[in-house]
Amino acid sequence: MQRILVTGGAGFIGSNFVHYVVEHTDLLVTVVDKLTYAGNRANLDGLPESRVRLVVGDIADADLMDDLVASHDAVIHYAAESHNDNSLRDPRPFLDTNIIGTYVILEACRKHDVRLHHISTDEVYGDLELDDPARFTESTPYNPSSPYSSTKAGSDLLVRAWVRSFGLRATISNCSNNYGPRQHIEKFIPRQITNVLDGRRPKLYGAGLNVRDWIHADDHSSAVIAILENGALGETYLIGADGEKNNLDVVRLILRLLDQPEDAFDHVTDRAGHDLRYAIDATKLRSEIGWRPAYADFSSGIADTITWYRENSDWWRPFKQRVENDYRRQSQ
Ligand code: NAD
Ligand code: DAU
Repeated sequence: MQRILVTGGAGFIGSNFVHYVVEHTDLLVTVVDKLTYAGNRANLDGLPESRVRLVVGDIADADLMDDLVASHDAVIHYAAESHNDNSLRDPRPFLDTNIIGTYVILEACRKHDVRLHHISTDEVYGDLELDDPARFTESTPYNPSSPYSSTKAGSDLLVRAWVRSFGLRATISNCSNNYGPRQHIEKFIPRQITNVLDGRRPKLYGAGLNVRDWIHADDHSSAVIAILENGALGETYLIGADGEKNNLDVVRLILRLLDQPEDAFDHVTDRAGHDLRYAIDATKLRSEIGWRPAYADFSSGIADTITWYRENSDWWRPFKQRVENDYRRQSQ
């Protein structure tokens, strides 16, 4: 494998993957990205032109994707509408990109017999009770809650159907919540960090007892590389790093690391249909592929993430007010 096509590579996780690939492999990368509100050319700054090329375009454009897929050895498919709160305000773009866009990629990969790795989320499994010791595994039944997670579930099922019906050479991974540099400030952790850096108070949905299973974006990238290299075709792998935390504890940690009182936050209106808890059992990935996360300490990972947002305010400040205005309209 020499040339890979990374969809959504100008977004948060996709761009971290491209940086990781340039640093850790010899692969040549083409990024195809529509540069929606969530995509940013600056996320690819500093990468060598000899290794990384950006094509601005829509994954739902069948002619474009046919051309691009034909000239690559593998497609790593990150592009998506990714934010639950946006999917509650306006689900349509989630269907267009997550369902139709994935279908277009599947057809191009089928036609040109190109290997696909489909990036998905643990949210396809719905949620777990707070006091339940159970975690998601590859055999947990699909039970998505939001328009976002239901379109990701639909995209996973399309991939599985193309594997079974057409023999597509594909793998799927479902990862837990990522944190790290370049995450859009609409998301929980960067929203709270930039709130404090901007003199605002963090905003916690409801009581803040919902649990997410945090993983550093670089650990997600190393797992995807491991699956590309050693995953079995047709298989699904869950990616997680045993990082369960409730939202209240995460907000308190951010406040502490920014030298603020731990109670200097506001409770705001809860998300409709808010999933209670996500938790990943990554035994299959660890035992069959030998993958291990590198980021053991959540607190120091968050401290590094805070440093990134502090040093890159030019990146987030231009759209901070708009993001907060959108939230305020929903009392969030
Ligand atoms: P993001 O919103 O930060 O980035 C998405 C990228 O896709 C943006 O660059 C955007 O411009 C691009 N894009 C959107 N629609 C497009 C289209 N029609 N054509 C081409 N490009 C388009 O999202 P993210 O958080 O980096 O998530 C990336 C992927 O990882 C998604 O598939 C998401 O479901 C999955 N995922 C995310 C998390 C998480 O914690 N953020 C966890 C597990 C899985
Ligand atoms: O689990 C993987 C998923 O993680 C990915 O598939 C999604 O693309 C990604 O956005 C993320 O989904 P969440 O809904 O879990 O992430 P978000 O950052 O929106 O919220 C994390 C938690 O924090 C959730 O319980 C809601 C809460 N929250 C969020 C915001 C924006 C708050 O309490 N306050 C906030 O201001």
